[in-house]
Amino acid sequence: MKEKSVFDLAALPPTFVWGAATSAYQIEGGVTADGRKPSIWDTFCRVPGAIDNGDTGDLACDHYRRWPEDIALMRRLGLDAYRFSVAWPRVMPDGVGRPNPAGIAFYDRLVDGLLAAGIRPFATLYHWDLPQVLQDRGGWPARDTALAFADYAATVAAALGDRVTDWMTVNEPLCCAWIGYLEGRMAPGECDLARAVPASHHLLLGHGLAAAAVRANATAPASVGAVCNLSPIEPASDSDADVAAAVRADGHVNRWWLDPLFGRGYPTDMIDTYRVAPPVRPGDLEAIGAPLDFFGVNYYFRQVVADDPGGPVPYARQVSVPGALETAMGWESHPVGLTELLVRLAEVYGATSIYVTENGSAWGDEVGPGGEVEDKRRTEYLELHLEACAAAAARGVPVDGYFAWSLLDNFEWAYGYDKRFGLVYVDYLTQRRTIKASGHRYAEVIREHKQRRQEG
Ligand code: IFM
Repeated sequence: MKEKSVFDLAALPPTFVWGAATSAYQIEGGVTADGRKPSIWDTFCRVPGAIDNGDTGDLACDHYRRWPEDIALMRRLGLDAYRFSVAWPRVMPDGVGRPNPAGIAFYDRLVDGLLAAGIRPFATLYHWDLPQVLQDRGGWPARDTALAFADYAATVAAALGDRVTDWMTVNEPLCCAWIGYLEGRMAPGECDLARAVPASHHLLLGHGLAAAAVRANATAPASVGAVCNLSPIEPASDSDADVAAAVRADGHVNRWWLDPLFGRGYPTDMIDTYRVAPPVRPGDLEAIGAPLDFFGVNYYFRQVVADDPGGPVPYARQVSVPGALETAMGWESHPVGLTELLVRLAEVYGATSIYVTENGSAWGDEVGPGGEVEDKRRTEYLELHLEACAAAAARGVPVDGYFAWSLLDNFEWAYGYDKRFGLVYVDYLTQRRTIKASGHRYAEVIREHKQRRQEG
């Protein structure tokens, strides 16, 4: 076979799943279609100054109507799998109670379309679009939200669980709790540690209850996992203060989520740091720590931190690394960090199956004179991070798949549409899609790996 890759993916298992990911609010549009009601993001987008350029997800990539075209793009890329999220406010517009048949019908069509195209659907139940009505009743700081999430999960599993076999409960609880309820940079835009800590617990509890609900209601065998965004943390210097800050930052970003999800309960050093205890009731930690079929890691960057005693929790300030290559988000490209995280998940936490459920980069893409998008830096980022997966696999880590973030350019939350992460360029005026050079390269890598797989 002709060797085309500049890097070696031979360590990746033959069953490795090649995918791309999106989320509902970032691509669907159709925010008032067929009975959908507002989520906290519809509301947050109306807060003056909350979103760059005053952008909203009202139309986004119009995927609600253009999904057949998007499945055709997935086929052109040669994807094995597509990770999407189900919009709670579409399926259960009032947050609880009666499901909305028209909302469910959309995901029925999508799942059927994917399966007909030979693409395995990976469904995420919550990617940040809490029905506004539940926020009005207290949001994630309220325990009832976790219970409502389990009911919604049961409804979705009952509807799609005859065909969907791969499920993710909550995507990036860190962003929901810390950025949404502590830093206020994401919906619902609150800044209150006393609410953020309970929110974090109820997101994790919601995960545990939803995982059980999926298993109880899906009729096909269900493989269920949680998805966290993680970052390796390094101290800015070897001073005691910076090293201690790195331990706190690691607690805030990584251990607060991983420890309870892997059955270890909350890290007590962080409860001391927050001075707020999560409202744990009997049985909660067992529900949260129940064994998972896989773990999903979203990886974008590492964090180098210095002590910041006067700053916000966790009193650790991120510092930039001189000479580092930074993406348009200002995030350092640090591929070896992905290897480190994968090894840590396997060796420290005992994860037995791991998917990289998101990884990708934003750059200032430009459309060339012939309509092409030559996104060399995204291609390099992609190759280096795939190599990082293979390096972990070579060390015995069970890395079972990779989902590029994102299939399409889309609504990048508080950054609006300016930050483009897609393998496919979206012209938001015409909704025309163009596969970028990185998308073509990804397709080539997938083809090569599949060919190798066939050659045994
Ligand atoms: O766009 C987001 C996604 O919704 C969650 N993970 C990180 C991505 C890039 O910021």
